[in-house]
Amino acid sequence: MSKIAILAGDGIGPEVMDEAIKVLDAAQKKFDFALTYEHADVGGIAIDNHGEALPASTLTLCENSDAILFGSVGGPKWENLPPDQQPERAALLPLRKHFDLFCNLRPARVFKSLTGACPLRADIIKDGFDILCVRELTSGIYFGTPKGREGEGPDERAYDTMAYKRSEIERISRKAFEAARSRRKKVTSIDKANVLTTMVLWREVVTEIAKEYPDVELAHLYVDNATMQLVRDPHQFDVMLCGNMFGDIISDESAMLTGSMGLLASASINQESFGMYEPAGGSAPDIAGKGIANPIAQILSAAMMLRHSLGLDAAADAIDNAVEATLDKGVYTADIAIDSSTAVNTKAMGDAIVAAL
Ligand code: NAD
Ligand code: IPM
Ligand code: MN
Repeated sequence: MSKIAILAGDGIGPEVMDEAIKVLDAAQKKFDFALTYEHADVGGIAIDNHGEALPASTLTLCENSDAILFGSVGGPKWENLPPDQQPERAALLPLRKHFDLFCNLRPARVFKSLTGACPLRADIIKDGFDILCVRELTSGIYFGTPKGREGEGPDERAYDTMAYKRSEIERISRKAFEAARSRRKKVTSIDKANVLTTMVLWREVVTEIAKEYPDVELAHLYVDNATMQLVRDPHQFDVMLCGNMFGDIISDESAMLTGSMGLLASASINQESFGMYEPAGGSAPDIAGKGIANPIAQILSAAMMLRHSLGLDAAADAIDNAVEATLDKGVYTADIAIDSSTAVNTKAMGDAIVAAL
């Protein structure tokens, strides 16, 4: 019996989480395993109910669970709080840091039936691509110190620090090379070594670690070129290895190339394979409350949880296949429907995936 902490959060978080739980329930029956769920507030809803974005009770629940299934946090209601009290900075980033979830896997694969939803020309997208962004998640400019604001008037200044330790680059590089070994054996490391000293070290260390993986090809690209190459010819990429901020940007771009932000799942894991599983997209305030969000990113994140933290590969594969089969049948939410009059809502998409399972 595995215990799952369910942190649905804000905006579309609770809407898509309901569908992921429905799919997990169906998978348990089919594959004969048992999960217990315990729900807790996180993000804006936790500020409203408990006065802070990450209450101690929520953190304790996570510590006592086998995995965390996370929705999304943030939204206009909490945007005017002091920055360090806002949901993203006071809940999401501390959760990642607390559990040392340094390895963020963001797989972007174009489903065959969705090549028409990709914004690229048909002759570029061909029959689709399959990229894994491996993003360093607990260091870099997000966490470097000092950061702050000082002074006033025209001299007022604000600063963040981008810093990486050799050991931090080594461990995320190994994750990328290991992932490449079970894929098409190519790692493209994304940096800005022509300008940033941090990224000079990044490139050096990645090149050293590559020697441990002679069967995997290594390429380096500057981040500006990489974002361009991704729309020029996504097929050239297998694993994209990125620092924290570049991975944030590259993964949204690759999500949209698969058809929608609502398709991109993610796993944030530590060295012990404990993990938090969350869609790469956010709380989508523009569509929250309407019941039309695409639940697929949340459902595929739940499948990643079964695979990476619970060792339930067969059930995870079955969920992936059920999502693909549902899309093959032409069941689309509004974000991926080419003809919006045929779009189904969040709940109907969840039901269709359960039926396919
Ligand atoms: P967003 O990802 O929430 O939305 C960007 C666009 O993608 C919107 O048009 C939205 O409707 C669409 N979209 C996202 N998920 C979708 C889904 N499942 N189905 C259909 N459409 C979907 O990004 P944003 O608007 O920049 O951020 C909104 C809030 O979410 C902010 O507070 C931000 O900080 C937060 N955020 C949280 C997380 C997280 O909790 N992991 C991640 C990203 C952003
Ligand atoms: C993501 C999000 C977060 C990030 C924000 C909400 C802190 O954009 O998970 O990609 O930048 O990591
Ligand atoms: Mn992001």
